[in-house]
Amino acid sequence: MKLSKRLDCVASLVEDNKSIIDIGCDHALLSIFIALNKNPNKVIASDNKEGPLVGARENVNRYQVNDKVKIKLGNGVDPIEEDIDTIIISGMGGMNIVGILKYKTTLFKNVDTIILSPNTDSSFVRKEICKLGFYIEKEKLVKDGKIIYPVIRFKRGKKKYKKIEYILGPILLKEKEKLFIEYLIKEKETKEKILSILPKKYILKRIQLKKELKEINKIL
Ligand SMILES: C[S@@+](CC[C@H](N)C(=O)[O-])C[C@H]1O[C@@H](n2cnc3c(N)ncnc32)[C@H](O)[C@@H]1O
Repeated sequence: MKLSKRLDCVASLVEDNKSIIDIGCDHALLSIFIALNKNPNKVIASDNKEGPLVGARENVNRYQVNDKVKIKLGNGVDPIEEDIDTIIISGMGGMNIVGILKYKTTLFKNVDTIILSPNTDSSFVRKEICKLGFYIEKEKLVKDGKIIYPVIRFKRGKKKYKKIEYILGPILLKEKEKLFIEYLIKEKETKEKILSILPKKYILKRIQLKKELKEINKIL
C-alpha cells in the first residue's frame, strides 16, 4: 500500500516492535501501514467519531489486518491500553493535539514515545509536550502539495531548549535539511498573515507572534 507523502513521513519515525495507538486515525491507513511494515506488538486505531471508523473498518478488512489492528471509538487518550508505548497524532491542529495530551496524562504513564505532526502551532506543541516530561529526539519536514509539515518524535526525559528551538525545532535547526529555508519562509508568511488580521485585543498572542517573527528573521 502507498501512503501520502505526509503519512509516509510520519510512518518513517515509527520504530519497529512497538505497541502503538494512532489517535484520530480517520481512514486508519497509517495504522494499517504500521501493522504491515513495522512488526508492531500491537496497533490501536482510534477516533472520536463513528463516521471515520466505518471507513477504517473497511480498510482493515481490505488489507486483511483484522488480527493486527484494533479499531476503537473514543475521545483522545481514553482508548489507550496499559501496554501502549507509542502515541501518534497527525493531521490535527496543534492546539487540539496539546488539549488531547494534557487531558489525562495518567492514561499514558507507560508511553515512552510520542510522534506528532501538527498542521498548525508547532512551537506551542513542542513547548507543551516538553512540559509533560518529554524531549525532542527526532524531527523531519515533509512537503505534501504546497504545505510543509513538521513531524516530531518525542521521548520521555528532560532537556532544556532555547526559545528559538521551541519555535523552529532543535533538530530542524541543527540539521537544516533542504526544505528548512522554504519552511522558514512559509512560517514567516503565515505568522505575518495571522498578525495582520488578529484583532488588537489579543495582546499576548500578538506579542508572541512578534517575538517568533523576530527570531525567524534573525535566521533568514
Ligand atoms: C484530519 S483527520 C487526520 C487523519 C489522520 N490522522 C491523518 O493524519 O491523515 C483528523 C481526525 O481526528 C479525529 N479527531 C479529532 N479530534 C479527536 C479527538 N479528540 N479524539 C480522537 N479523534 C479525534 C477526527 O474525527 C478525524 O478523523
